Amino acid sequence: MSRRVVVAFAIALVVNAAQTPFFQVEPAWDLDVPPNVNATGNLIFDTVSSALTHWTHTRYRNGHNLIPGTVPVGTLLYHGRGDPDVRSGVPDWVATDPEHSFMFCRTLKPEEGCWHLTLATTRPLKILYFDGSSAAKMRDGPMDSQDIVAWGKVIPERYFDERQRIIDICHWGKQFGVDGYVRMEMDFEIMLCDFTEGVDVVALASLTREGNGIPGPGRRRPPPGDPYLNLAPNSDLASEVIYSGSWHNHYPGDRRIQLDLTALVSFYDTQLVPSLVPVRFGQERWDHRLLGISADDADSVLARLESVLSAGIPSRNATGVDWDTLFKVIVDRYADRLEIAQYLLNNTTNATDTAQRVMKQLHIMLTPYLLHSASPSGKGNSWAAPIYEFCATSHTSYIHRTSAILSRMTASEHLLLGAVDQVNREICRIVVSMWVQGVDAGLDEIVRPPIVIDSDNEEVLVQHWNSALAGLMSWLDWSIWVRCRPACNFEEICYLPTWPFGRGVHEIPDKEDFLRPKPRCIPRIE
Ligand SMILES: *[C@@H]1O[C@H](CO)[C@@H](O)[C@H](O)[C@H]1NC(C)=O
Ligand SMILES: *[C@@H]1O[C@H](CO)[C@@H](O)[C@H](O)[C@H]1NC(C)=O
Ligand SMILES: *[C@@H]1O[C@H](CO)[C@@H](O)[C@H](O)[C@H]1NC(C)=O
Ligand SMILES: *[C@@H]1O[C@H](CO)[C@@H](O)[C@H](O)[C@H]1NC(C)=O
Ligand SMILES: *[C@@H]1O[C@H](CO)[C@@H](O)[C@H](O)[C@H]1NC(C)=O
Repeated sequence: MSRRVVVAFAIALVVNAAQTPFFQVEPAWDLDVPPNVNATGNLIFDTVSSALTHWTHTRYRNGHNLIPGTVPVGTLLYHGRGDPDVRSGVPDWVATDPEHSFMFCRTLKPEEGCWHLTLATTRPLKILYFDGSSAAKMRDGPMDSQDIVAWGKVIPERYFDERQRIIDICHWGKQFGVDGYVRMEMDFEIMLCDFTEGVDVVALASLTREGNGIPGPGRRRPPPGDPYLNLAPNSDLASEVIYSGSWHNHYPGDRRIQLDLTALVSFYDTQLVPSLVPVRFGQERWDHRLLGISADDADSVLARLESVLSAGIPSRNATGVDWDTLFKVIVDRYADRLEIAQYLLNNTTNATDTAQRVMKQLHIMLTPYLLHSASPSGKGNSWAAPIYEFCATSHTSYIHRTSAILSRMTASEHLLLGAVDQVNREICRIVVSMWVQGVDAGLDEIVRPPIVIDSDNEEVLVQHWNSALAGLMSWLDWSIWVRCRPACNFEEICYLPTWPFGRGVHEIPDKEDFLRPKPRCIPRIE
């Protein structure tokens, strides 16, 4: 790219930087202005980029997104039950993995096998995905978004009212042709509204099973004393479903469900749901939930959801932008690099060494944005503003200035674009700020400052960098950074405490570990 092109391009960026659906301070590219504390772009980015993955949504159980999608033709779905009498028009639960449905395979007579049904989809099923641990029957948040869709408001007391919930939600969605609702607990499941619509029986098998099973879902039996909760996480059945759930831990998650992000409706959308802004204020992310949403906002969410579902899934009008991949590109580019920088900074042996190694990483991250025209002035950091802007906008500036795309964007796509912009902006703000400090200290091998200041104060610089990077990484809060350390051995899997284990009979000793799940290694095999 010639310099003239770069300059023209940079001007185009400046001209088009004004489109923002959030609380951003515009159009100044001031490296010292942090994001608004109430902005949710980071939360939308993280929940959407981890949609249908087990790990993030086990960590943060309270879902905030409603995402329509489809289940492709020929997909197998599994259902365990206590009798062979599958009836039409009766909603029930199916699992995407048989390890999960087999928990519900049971028999009422000791001499019989247990009943296990396999279905295959005969047409694309239209589904709605509730993110979070939306099948964790807990009163403190995971069921909130379903309550709003099924009943118009959050009703914590009905957290275990599974039979009525599935009846009411299927009744609500019938007018929009919704076949099922995707949820997650130890593994993924679908509340399937009719076992004779859009699915065919592959097999209704009577299987061998030890002992008499546990009651299936839909039986109203709140804990304590629910036999479901008697399963210890180390029982064979439980560990197998935890294991199959772990196959979907990371991107792209459970691919048997294909989401249409252009029809996303989010409770983190501060324009659609302003009433939750003060509710969330000052709360940790673990505690974010939908209780406290105004009746008007609940209505707006339902109206938005009904309109996207009526328009058709997948939506025909969308721009064609592959949002899922755009999110992934950004996670790929920064997840490892930020983590390496963090790792290097965590070495106090020799601050000069550490600072030099980290500076190299900062330079590499910013390489595509280090405009030749922006050179250190020696005073303040404003000379780097064009680099900050270029870095922050390069993934989306084309979208922002292409009216053929903009004019077709759905409200959901505007929300996604805003989230990408906010996240890029904050990553670039912190990384560029750190790099500028390094340049001033004379640490960049190529970009030299007019005068080197603080040349032998690397210890202080490393401290600043450490806290700036920690702040960025906790703001982004990507669960990809949450791992078992040291890594588990081959006979173990890395596990985050999940419902129903840790509640009811099998109360885990450290309650905090259940409420703010931390990973640990558990045996995969005996
Ligand atoms: C954030 O939201 C709280 C609660 O609504 C409000 O009091 C505060 O002024 C907001 N802060 C900013 C910077 O907008
Ligand atoms: C598609 O977009 C056109 C023009 O913006 C609009 O009139 C039409 O209602 C949209 N169709 C659907 C199904 O959303
Ligand atoms: C930093 O290093 C210490 C000791 O080596 C380790 O316990 C800690 O987890 C590290 N922190 C990070 C953020 O890597
Ligand atoms: C730190 O490392 C640098 C470069 O490797 C070296 O010149 C310096 O002597 C080291 N400082 C200390 C205190 O070990
Ligand atoms: C810390 O950095 C020094 C070089 O300054 C290196 O020799 C040492 O291995 C590093 N320690 C760790 C734990 O990475």
